[in-house]
Amino acid sequence: MTKKINLKKRPIICLTSYNKFFAEIADQYCDIVLVGDSLGMVYYGDTSTRSVSLNDMIRHGKSVRSGVRKAIMVVDMPYGTYKNPSLAKKNALRIIKETKCDAVKLEGGKEINHIIKHLIKNKINVMGHIGLLPQKVRSKKNYKIKGINLYEKNKILSDLKCIQESGVFSIVLEAVKYQTAKEIMKLAKIPIIGIGASDECDGQILVFEDMLGIFEKVPKFVKKFSNLRSYIKKAVKLYSKDIKNKKFPTKKNIYF
Ligand code: KIV
Repeated sequence: MTKKINLKKRPIICLTSYNKFFAEIADQYCDIVLVGDSLGMVYYGDTSTRSVSLNDMIRHGKSVRSGVRKAIMVVDMPYGTYKNPSLAKKNALRIIKETKCDAVKLEGGKEINHIIKHLIKNKINVMGHIGLLPQKVRSKKNYKIKGINLYEKNKILSDLKCIQESGVFSIVLEAVKYQTAKEIMKLAKIPIIGIGASDECDGQILVFEDMLGIFEKVPKFVKKFSNLRSYIKKAVKLYSKDIKNKKFPTKKNIYF
């Protein structure tokens, strides 16, 4: 059972985190910290999020919990862990019990609405995720924006209606054409957190490592707020040079 979540503040600032140290920083500036199953691709370098297990999410969730004091902490339910209502309930309760998170996030709309309803009936806070669903994508090259044609637009709008009526406290809207996102915003009665959706969303989320500039190639919706990759590269180059030139370790780094 999780405590009811009430997100009044706007804009709602969100970031992902997979460990205590990133979570501590995110917690200072964010309203929601998500332990995303992007973990598989971003942290472990897998080709999709499908490789992530329940144990992985719990392990990283526990680490994030130790860094989050005030933000709402949400943990993604990984691929295959919510195939039916009773499995979803069992796994969601395990995630909540072991990570002490405030809510779980599930990807999908109408097709998983009965599962979402079952969790909410059992007093579990659920965050929805519609639009592009990474768990449905098997490889990086198949990431394509959604809501381009009428069929996709209607599907996303109907997904929104279904899961918001079921009582999700908020929804992540991922990689959706701007015009479709605008229609979502008109229909939404709960906070919509955009990632590649629209500036009109109630909040925004990015993968922490993406916005730090760890990766050379990132989707169009990412803004790099730093270029950590080049800082890391420079530091490692200097480290290697100093060892070769006998500049490290020095007396300062040695126990006499
Ligand atoms: O897994 C994840 O990090 C996510 C965000 C991209 C929203 O679901």
